[in-house]
Amino acid sequence: TEMGCLSIVVLGASGDLAKKKTFPALFNLFRQGFLQSNEVHIFGYARTKLSDDDLRERIRGYLIKGAPSENPEILSDFLKLIKYVSGGYDSAEGFLSLNKAISEHELAKNSYGSSRRLFYLALPPSVYPSVCKMIKSYCMNQAVPTGWTRIVVEKPFGKDLASAEELSAQLGELFDEPQLYRIDHYLGKELVQNLLVLRFANRFFLPLWNRDNIDNIQIVFREDFGTEGRGGYFDEYGIIRDIIQNHLLQVLCLVAMEKPVSLRPEHIRDEKVKVLQSVLPINYDEVVLGQYEGYTDDPTVSKDSNTPTFATIILRIHNERWEGVPFIMKAGKALNSRKAEIRVQFKDVPGDIFKCKKQGRNEFVIRLQPKEAMYMKLTVKKPGLDMSTIQSELDLSYGQRYQEVPIPEAYERLILDTIRGDQQHFVRRDELRAAWEIFTPLLHDIEDGKVKSVPYKPGSRGPPEADELAAKAGYVQTHGY
Ligand code: BG6
Repeated sequence: TEMGCLSIVVLGASGDLAKKKTFPALFNLFRQGFLQSNEVHIFGYARTKLSDDDLRERIRGYLIKGAPSENPEILSDFLKLIKYVSGGYDSAEGFLSLNKAISEHELAKNSYGSSRRLFYLALPPSVYPSVCKMIKSYCMNQAVPTGWTRIVVEKPFGKDLASAEELSAQLGELFDEPQLYRIDHYLGKELVQNLLVLRFANRFFLPLWNRDNIDNIQIVFREDFGTEGRGGYFDEYGIIRDIIQNHLLQVLCLVAMEKPVSLRPEHIRDEKVKVLQSVLPINYDEVVLGQYEGYTDDPTVSKDSNTPTFATIILRIHNERWEGVPFIMKAGKALNSRKAEIRVQFKDVPGDIFKCKKQGRNEFVIRLQPKEAMYMKLTVKKPGLDMSTIQSELDLSYGQRYQEVPIPEAYERLILDTIRGDQQHFVRRDELRAAWEIFTPLLHDIEDGKVKSVPYKPGSRGPPEADELAAKAGYVQTHGY
């Protein structure tokens, strides 16, 4: 590991993301020994006037929640590393005092080694440009020639192609691409990270993973709660920008990409970009949008909102491997369950002598959450004296198989990557552009009311039209044992 002092600055320290995700992830890294008290200092920055202790008290509860059995001493050691600086997001004065605090820490900890500064923007994107300008002007570590400055940003990166490009250009003027870490927390999930290994380290899958054998692929996100408390944000963005354009599309890349030249981040991201660029324009006959009943009761949501809280969109990849295979992207809020999974459905066996077709097809399911698992639905002889068949499962459930290994939180892993300088699991600028290119025309047409959301009941599977669309695209519901 690199030596020297590490300053982690959480901007927007009193906000929801910082409290719920960033600080707990830092705490988890600390208790596992990835952040050393003799090197690291954490700075919270926000507009609210708070003392160091006020901030510590605000986040304490969230830290305990994430690690209930932790020794209280470790918690207080961690809290001691946190300092707070208040200031505006375009205030030179504020950023000068932040720089002063960081520099003091660097001087106290070491003046020889390299100094590393990580700025985590747990902030609304509208302030990214000004905050980045402030960091660039006032918080770069000129005193120490070695070391680095890195900026971590969270989606939404713009609202469409044009605004995303504008934001990229603004940040790109201030920082180089290797300094910018665009987080998509789905890339930090264990089973998402497993996709490359699964596909490219297993002989089982290599020859089957293509249009000759696969009939359709579903990438599904469901949540069993609505937009509670985030109606204002959500109404402006909708489910496509909130989930599909980023999280599910990243998953699609990993499912569909060609084998990268190596595991180098650039090689992997090169292949992801190619897949995105091969996605055909969306055919509106293959789109179903929904909005749950009661969504507009939220006073922060406009009464005549057409914003989808549910969408099924079929993407088609125009290349040799995937032509003709629908990628059924499905995401919804206020549904009947919380689940994220990938379902790879294989074609029927030709010349079926068992007449087992109606029991369902081979299907390979990767459940990202909850209860991480991979299972294969396959046909076996029904145990017993009869020669009949049933659908059964080969099941690798992580909770059972890897009991002793706790699965890390996505944010924990991604923050560690930013410290280590590994950009593999972060979204590159050209990936982002290609992702927006796919969805921007549809998003504009939804805003213009040209594509409408149909109502669905909260707690349901979503609009029945979506199931019909998936069935039309070839998805066959299987019947378990
Ligand atoms: C966020 C979305 O990016 O992901 C939320 O803004 C959503 O709307 C969340 O609830 C889901 O994340 P996870 O990890 O719980 O699936």
